[in-house]
Amino acid sequence: MSNRDDGQRLRIGVIGLGVMGQRMLARLAGHERLQAAWVWDADPAAVARTLQTYPQLRAADSAAGLIASEGLHSLYIATPPAPHMALTELAFDAGLAVFCEKPLTVDFEAARRCIARIEREGRRAAVNFALASSPGLGLLQTSFGAAAKRPLGELTAVELEVAFAAWPRPWQAAAGRWLAERVEGGFTREVLSHFIFVLQRVLGPATVQASAASYPADGIGAETALRAELQAGGVPVRITGAVAGEVADRNRMLWRGAAGEIELGQWFSEVQQRRHDGSRPLGDAALLRNAAQADQLQQWVAMIEGRSHSLPGYAESLAVQQTIEALLRR
Ligand SMILES: NC(=O)c1ccc[n+]([C@@H]2O[C@H](COP(=O)([O-])OP(=O)(O)OC[C@H]3O[C@@H](n4cnc5c(N)ncnc54)[C@H](O)[C@@H]3O)[C@@H](O)[C@H]2O)c1
Repeated sequence: MSNRDDGQRLRIGVIGLGVMGQRMLARLAGHERLQAAWVWDADPAAVARTLQTYPQLRAADSAAGLIASEGLHSLYIATPPAPHMALTELAFDAGLAVFCEKPLTVDFEAARRCIARIEREGRRAAVNFALASSPGLGLLQTSFGAAAKRPLGELTAVELEVAFAAWPRPWQAAAGRWLAERVEGGFTREVLSHFIFVLQRVLGPATVQASAASYPADGIGAETALRAELQAGGVPVRITGAVAGEVADRNRMLWRGAAGEIELGQWFSEVQQRRHDGSRPLGDAALLRNAAQADQLQQWVAMIEGRSHSLPGYAESLAVQQTIEALLRR
């Protein structure tokens, strides 16, 4: 079957039907090119709930069964991180393009083998860092990226603050226990990884200079606070994160230039660019969010069709994860 017929519906198999799997199914509904077709989850109740909402979907009886389904073009993986690499390899065996949830994995050896295979065999794979498609990232690149003409002067510092009234956040309360535990979960992997992706895409690899995480005494729970200093592109980066305050999900990134600054709030839906001549918002929050979501699905189509795209690849995502694990290790 050709993957390149213009206008052809591209059929997606979804493995992992929890919070994120449901979000993606809702986003895919009605898309003009991408069509969710087959689903599978290790939990039969999740499959049953999904078929109630989307009776047109077909359920496979295993991950291997889904991946072998007739007529599939791409696999979307929305399980917790542990099975991401093995599912990716199975999908490659079947010739599928893979769109995988972040974090890529905490098994760096398996990731390196997978990345070597992607390069050797020309496999198509990308990771869902949604900010990759945000207009805010575009603004950072044209202001401070390698090819930027520096309209706000040289970058002097980056600050990132995240805070959560509770962890997991209310909208992820139904997620598995893994999200609240330190082996695979925690806000550093789950949330900071998005901003480390942005940082490294604009400035290149970051190094952790100092980092201190606080953990609950039970030996199991994920971090409750993190303070860290990094360097990226010769610029100091300060991170503070905590399970604290009244706001369910607060995040703010400030990029300071010599002649002005860019402040990005609430998942880059609020963007302020300040110069000496006053404040210039980039656009309306809902418009920015919708533009990013629409662009992400278009980039996925391009990835399936083997065209160039802006989604983060596995190597870029492993580099993010290496910085994240370094933050947690120190
Ligand atoms: N990109 C984003 O903005 C974003 C947001 C939230 C979560 N995520 C990521 O999405 C992934 C899933 O998170 P979630 O919040 O949906 O978790 P969740 O716990 O709500 O759902 C995970 C689902 O995967 C299933 N599952 C577990 N192991 C499986 C396996 N081996 N095979 C098949 N199914 C399996 C579980 O039964 C569950 O239904 C995580 O990697 C998470 O970090 C990404």
